[in-house]
Amino acid sequence: MCRILLAFLRGSQKVASRKTRRLLDKSKTFHVTCGVTICVFSVLHVAAHLVNVLNFSVNYTEEFLALNAANYRGEDPRKLLFTTIPGLTGVLMVLVLFLMCTASTYAIRLSNYDIFWYTHNLFFVFYVLLLVHVSGGVLKYQTNLEEHPPGCFHPNTTLQEDIPVPGIFEEPFPEYAPEPFPAEPEPFVQNNVVRICTEEPKFQSHFPETWLWISGPLCLYCAERLYRYIRSYKPVTITSVISHPSNVLELRMRKENFKARPGQYIILHCPRVSALESHPFTLTMCPTDTKATFGVHLKIVGDWTERFRDVLLLRSSQDTEILPNFQQRNYPKLYIDGPFGSPSEESLNYEVSLCVAGGIGVTPFASILNTLLDDWQCYKLRRLYFIWVCREIQSFRWFADLLCMLHNKLWQENRPDYINIQLYLSQTDGIQKIIGEKYQVLNSRLLIGRPRWKLLFDEIAKCNRQKTVGVFCCGPNEISKVLHKLSNSSNSYGTRFEYNKESFS
Ligand SMILES: Cc1cc2nc3c(=O)[nH]c(=O)nc-3n(C[C@H](O)[C@H](O)[C@H](O)COP(=O)(O)OP(=O)(O)OC[C@H]3O[C@@H](n4cnc5c(N)ncnc54)[C@H](O)[C@@H]3O)c2cc1C
Ligand SMILES: NC(=O)c1ccc[n+]([C@@H]2O[C@H](COP(=O)([O-])OP(=O)(O)OC[C@H]3O[C@@H](n4cnc5c(N)ncnc54)[C@H](OP(=O)(O)O)[C@@H]3O)[C@@H](O)[C@H]2O)c1
Repeated sequence: MCRILLAFLRGSQKVASRKTRRLLDKSKTFHVTCGVTICVFSVLHVAAHLVNVLNFSVNYTEEFLALNAANYRGEDPRKLLFTTIPGLTGVLMVLVLFLMCTASTYAIRLSNYDIFWYTHNLFFVFYVLLLVHVSGGVLKYQTNLEEHPPGCFHPNTTLQEDIPVPGIFEEPFPEYAPEPFPAEPEPFVQNNVVRICTEEPKFQSHFPETWLWISGPLCLYCAERLYRYIRSYKPVTITSVISHPSNVLELRMRKENFKARPGQYIILHCPRVSALESHPFTLTMCPTDTKATFGVHLKIVGDWTERFRDVLLLRSSQDTEILPNFQQRNYPKLYIDGPFGSPSEESLNYEVSLCVAGGIGVTPFASILNTLLDDWQCYKLRRLYFIWVCREIQSFRWFADLLCMLHNKLWQENRPDYINIQLYLSQTDGIQKIIGEKYQVLNSRLLIGRPRWKLLFDEIAKCNRQKTVGVFCCGPNEISKVLHKLSNSSNSYGTRFEYNKESFS
């Protein structure tokens, strides 16, 4: 996928209509559909060739030597598969496709992303094999159709095959010379036109055209990879690393000429952690004209994030830590690739938006909130419903300060109704509070249990009659499914919910 190109096209000024931008967000679905289509047609193609290979061997005839890939009747079809260029490259392509396909399943992507990623890059090998595959010249066409029209009459062979003989040949045939074709051309009547068969059919391999179809997209992809490589060549300057509760690390960085829009994500590459792996993280703070610093929040979930935390911090952060813990040290070299686009970018372009976050899925919305904190008046957005569901009370502290600051700012600017914050603590054995007097505003917006989505949608529909509400979700898939379904269901207030699907795995 050409992510930079997609992010570029997605940029609000580049593509005018929201419909087109939402269509661009379906690029991953399109990518998957193309992959599945390639697999389905490959199965058909391979099945047809297997039957063909068998036919070459079983029905071998010396009549059309140029067309028959087998060398003699009963030749082992496996020999044709493994010793010819088209056969061998075909077998290898099937193998590559099988690996790519099986490793792309949801289960593998979730349990071992690296396997998915490395096998997916085999697409390059697939393309090279595809180019060689067609160079074998198995598919041929006849070059002398004029001299030897298909189906023309050749007494030596045609008669044996019991093909009806035109009237002019109904007389007994004279003795034929040993050579297959007489010196004088033989007339053949077809639709009252006499066709002359003057020579043996001649065949020639088709000119390979595959490169015409794949070179364009491949060049585009390579150009993008090169651009990405050059752009991410310079490391960032890490300005601070903050350890947050519930195993979350905040990283603030700077990089010359780095620009990003709220909702976008970057890909981190830290050679000291892994020479090959790169991991995506959504920007929680974007650089602006006045401040160059940008940041991400990472949840420590697996081997890469664990090792990354260890090289960044002198000691690992613990859940018990209440206050952010600033660490100063010699940071490792860190490279970033991106930014890349995401549907969350669109939330500022609706008059009313509903942003639902589950756990660390809050990150894209944190950058939206940070942007609104800078200036909310310049965007189309006039009402934001922000719903955040977490398992632990401490998790709300990742962005508690930001939420409080935005709330206070909007109150000072006489727009308290601009943002509707609802925080849900899904698992608790009693009433809890986000510790600290300064978070009083949030404590009053804290609810216990999971949100009741239907009620929430009804309430929003009632308050925003006849309007279009943009729905955004980032978090566990289950929330996303519920919201998608509710967005597509009708309501009695004429409110339209437009679901913007975000996909992470
Ligand atoms: C667009 C996007 C934005 C993200 N933003 C954030 C964020 O702001 N904060 C945050 O904490 N996490 C974010 N994530 C998730 C983050 O990328 C993974 O948690 C991280 O890659 C885990 O790596 P690991 O080796 O530590 O864990 P693993 O145990 O290897 O993986 C944990 C999960 O992360 C997924 N994952 C692993 N590697 C990758 C990869 N290279 N690309 C995509 N998914 C991967 C796997 O499917 C797996 O289910 C985002 C993911 C995506 C796709
Ligand atoms: N964009 C991003 O930037 C990004 C970053 C990181 C992760 N992600 C995605 O976010 C996901 C979760 O991250 P996490 O580990 O921090 O989350 P998590 O702790 O597993 O779940 C977050 C919350 O979502 C609630 N929840 C789950 N299903 C729900 C439903 N149907 N209705 C209401 N609430 C529901 C959970 O409630 P219960 O306690 O009741 O289950 C929990 O409180 C990951 O799987 C990943 O796909 C996205």
